[in-house]
Amino acid sequence: MSDTSLSLKQQQVVVIGGTSGIGLEVAQAAARRGAIVTVIGRSAKAGDNIRAVAADVTDSAALAKAFAAIGKIDHLVLTAGARVGSPRLTELKREELELAFNVKLFGALFAIQAALPYLSPTASVTLTSGLLSRKFGPGGLLKSTLNAAVEAAAKNLAKELAPRRVNVVSPGVIDTELWGETGAESRVAAMARIGQTLPVGRVGTPQDVAQVYLLAIENGFVNGAVLDVEGGGLL
Ligand SMILES: NC(=O)c1ccc[n+]([C@@H]2O[C@H](COP(=O)([O-])OP(=O)(O)OC[C@H]3O[C@@H](n4cnc5c(N)ncnc54)[C@H](OP(=O)(O)O)[C@@H]3O)[C@@H](O)[C@H]2O)c1
Repeated sequence: MSDTSLSLKQQQVVVIGGTSGIGLEVAQAAARRGAIVTVIGRSAKAGDNIRAVAADVTDSAALAKAFAAIGKIDHLVLTAGARVGSPRLTELKREELELAFNVKLFGALFAIQAALPYLSPTASVTLTSGLLSRKFGPGGLLKSTLNAAVEAAAKNLAKELAPRRVNVVSPGVIDTELWGETGAESRVAAMARIGQTLPVGRVGTPQDVAQVYLLAIENGFVNGAVLDVEGGGLL
C-alpha cells in the first residue's frame, strides 16, 4: 500500500503559541521533518532551525504584518492560550474571562482571518481545545466554555474554508510551564497526583501531543476532527 501522508519537506508551517510548551514541541517536530517553521508569540523565542516573530495574537495589525513577511502558509497551528485559573461562578472575573477568550478563541479566529490570503488551497489549520470541552465539574466553567467554543468554531471552519482542512487537538493534562516553572515542587506534585488518576498512570508530555498535531497536518483525510490525546482522562 502506498503512503498517502503529505510530506512536510520545505513546507511553510506557522505555529502561533510556538514559543513554549506544546506549540514549541510541534514546531520542533515539524522542523525535524524538513518544514520551514515560524513560531509566533509575544516573546520571540526560537529553537534550532526555527524562526520566531514577536506578535500578540490579540493584535490583528501585528499578525497581518507577520503573515505578509512569511508569505505562503502550508500549515497553520494555533496553540496560544492565556494562563488563567479555574474559577467557579462566584469567583468569575470579567477580566479573566475576557483575557482567556481574547487570546484562545478570538485570537485564533482573527489570526486565521488574517492568514487567509496566504493559506494555500491544500493548507491545514489545527486549533487547540482541551479535555474540559467535554468534561464538566466545579472550576471547569471558564475552560469548558472556551474549549467547547473552539471545537464548534473549528468544525464550522472545516466547511467554510474547504478544501483546506481544519482540525482540533484536545489535550488532557500535559506537563508544561502552564503548570508552573520546570522543576517546581508544586508542579511535580500536581503532575504525580493527576497522573495517578488517569488510566495510563501518568500525565502527558508535549511530545505525546505533538505527534497528534503532526497526524492532523500530514493526513490529508483528517478533517473537522477533534483529536483527543488525554491518556483516557475523558473516560
Ligand atoms: N498543558 C496542559 O495541560 C493543557 C491542557 C489542555 C489544553 N491545553 C492548551 O494547550 C495550549 C498550549 O498550552 P501549553 O501547555 O503549551 O501552555 P504554555 O506553555 O503556556 O504556552 C502558551 C503559548 O501561548 C502563547 N501566548 C499566550 N498569550 C499569547 C498572546 N496574547 N499572543 C500570542 N501568543 C500568546 C505563549 O507565548 P508567549 O508567552 O511568547 O506569548 C506560549 O507560546 C493552550 O491553548 C492550552 O489551553 C493545555
